[in-house]
Amino acid sequence: MPQLAYVNGQILPLASATLHVEDRGTQFGDAIYEVCAVLNGQILDWQPHLVRLRRNLAELGITLATADGPLGLQARRLIARNGHRECLLYIQISRGTARRDHAFPQGAPANLVMTVRRFDFAQRVRQLGSGIKVITRADDRWGRVDIKTTGLLPNVLAKQAAREAGAFEAWLVAGSEVREGSSTNAWIVKDGRIITHPTGTHILPGIARDSLIRMAREAQMVVEERAFTLAEARDADEAFLTSTTALILPVVAINGEAVAGGKPGPVTHRLAELVWNEVARQTGWRA
Ligand code: PDD
Repeated sequence: MPQLAYVNGQILPLASATLHVEDRGTQFGDAIYEVCAVLNGQILDWQPHLVRLRRNLAELGITLATADGPLGLQARRLIARNGHRECLLYIQISRGTARRDHAFPQGAPANLVMTVRRFDFAQRVRQLGSGIKVITRADDRWGRVDIKTTGLLPNVLAKQAAREAGAFEAWLVAGSEVREGSSTNAWIVKDGRIITHPTGTHILPGIARDSLIRMAREAQMVVEERAFTLAEARDADEAFLTSTTALILPVVAINGEAVAGGKPGPVTHRLAELVWNEVARQTGWRA
């Protein structure tokens, strides 16, 4: 089956799906995006993703001429046409195509692009057994990383540094404070308390983060939304990360030093059960 993409209302073969070179996403990073997990053909947490997408558009003053229903409908149409049951849905909306000028163009409609890529979620379940390693990097991003824009150069460089160090992720550190990963939210567990950076302008408010906080509290677990330091992370009982594509993964080493004896811990294990049960509840998918 050929890979298909969606460009401004049309579904096309991926190889011929293009935007104009003067798309503002390309020239200025003047675009927002979402990544959603699709399991069993169902989009996980669609409503929260849509709420965040609309907030991001509003923050940047980008108008998308499509209402809620149609965007979800068009995404589902693309997923169905591609035929992948397990995939990642990528949605990108730029301010449009216009003659290059920093200020907003007049009357240029937003460009909406969607792609789907097959994804092996079972791999994430297998990784729960071994955990993953992280390194740390200075957080040198701009001041509004709560807006999910395509301007991801610091994240790209941090992730590449992680790859080169044989790690899964780079945790971004400001002063002594761990903020989040290059594409994931960061967590530690200490004395049974689950700790993650609060929302605000210093982290992306992750959908996986938000849903995990809710599920953990429903399960009578204690969650603290507060900044934690790198020293606290090194000394933590457990550490883990969350995102749409990682779901939840135990962190067993930070900068080459073992966390919690270098093994995934019981609190992370319990949280992973909650996450995968929720996946099954929403989509029917089981590893
Ligand atoms: N990354 N922090 C950053 C900087 C991110 O880019 C992401 C998402 C997250 C986790 O957010 P969520 O739980 O909504 O996926 C945190 C996506 C998946 C990406 O860029 O690929």
